[in-house]
Amino acid sequence: MENNITLDCSGAEDYFKEHELDYLRPKITAAHQLLHNLEGPGSEYAGWIDWPLRFDQEELQRIQQVGQKIKEKAEVFVIIGIGGSYLGARSALELLTHSFYNGLTREERQGPEIYFAGHNISPLYLTQLLEVIKNKDVYINVVSKSGTTLEPALAFRVLKSLIEQQHGKKGAGERIFATTDQAKGALKILAEKEGYETFTVPDDVGGRFSVLTPVGLLPMAVGGINLEEIMAGARRGCELFSKSDIENNPSYLYGAIRNLLYQKGKTIELLVNYEPSLYYFGEWWKQLFGESEGKDHKGIFPAAMNFSTDLHSLGQYVQDGYRNLFLTTLWIEKPAVDMNIFEQEDNLDGLNYLSLKTIYHVNEKAFQGTAQAHIEGGVPNLKISVPQISPYYYGQMVYFFEKACGMSGYLLGVNPFDQPGVEAYKKNMFKLLGKP
Ligand code: PA5
Repeated sequence: MENNITLDCSGAEDYFKEHELDYLRPKITAAHQLLHNLEGPGSEYAGWIDWPLRFDQEELQRIQQVGQKIKEKAEVFVIIGIGGSYLGARSALELLTHSFYNGLTREERQGPEIYFAGHNISPLYLTQLLEVIKNKDVYINVVSKSGTTLEPALAFRVLKSLIEQQHGKKGAGERIFATTDQAKGALKILAEKEGYETFTVPDDVGGRFSVLTPVGLLPMAVGGINLEEIMAGARRGCELFSKSDIENNPSYLYGAIRNLLYQKGKTIELLVNYEPSLYYFGEWWKQLFGESEGKDHKGIFPAAMNFSTDLHSLGQYVQDGYRNLFLTTLWIEKPAVDMNIFEQEDNLDGLNYLSLKTIYHVNEKAFQGTAQAHIEGGVPNLKISVPQISPYYYGQMVYFFEKACGMSGYLLGVNPFDQPGVEAYKKNMFKLLGKP
């Protein structure tokens, strides 16, 4: 039988009654129609809905070819971008490549070291990045939908200059790849003038929904991730999460339950993982939901936590602090690898009671014990099960959350595809900087 992403709401069912879910049903159907008929607010940016089904195969092949070239030739590959032009690629690379990727030898990696830049304005970060990469053959993918965002533009100016010093303008032209709007923006103009190979961020796909476009796919290709499998998983997601009713669409059921919990005062959602390689998936998810729903003075605040690590820092608050939280655990059903716990004759550490068990088993019991404690402590728990970590399930997970997010935004009564609030800090910063 085929395994797919599933949702278990049993840890939240004490917080709402069946009829409350029934009241939501017509609203969910209406939200579904707005999404699929492209009739809702912001629908000009809802092109992600059928993107996995319509993405051009020739373009996918071009991405794979360029990715392969960079993989073979580069010693270092730097992805420059922020927000929706950064988090998707990073979440996939962190999840689907080795946990200590840059620490492996080139033979083990079969590709360049990979770094990120342009997602902060830190001179320390940039200086130390330059120290690490300056004597290596550096290739760059600069990603910016608008082509005007300050953070990546600054980092790009610095790194472009490094490559030009090393290889001249022509050599730099062979090492720099730009992913941006097809027609407008400073990056597009610059890339054309310098003759860089470019990739297009589709007009109708907003930044935080763009990981399955060249924005995320080129970095993934350089990291050796199988793009066909990513897109196959996303296409399967399109089928699995296409129904308008919550009985047949776990993505919508997730959106509906979080809306009910929000109505009960559960205004903070903690996306929890028990697998460190999911850390950046949590960061990607935070932008997806935070930027989509946090508007008009409404919305669930999305926070991500890494267990069991954070149980030793924030666990006290979750168990016993202010009761406005609910937890959504992203659980991986089949570990990529497992490790047997061996017996020791002296048993000085007192761990022999675990011998013949595995580390995954201990992690699973930590999850079960934690969920039980949190439910008893007044924190509703949702569980999203992912069969295993793979490109295919990464694609399916992305689509699961994107679909839930679109529907959930309409259910909340906001435009899930704009981000007017992001401009406020920029306006002040540019004024303070004296931008003409
Ligand atoms: O969603 C948003 O608007 C932002 O978070 C963007 O993703 C981020 O600012 C990057 O924008 P751009 O790709 O235009 O550089």
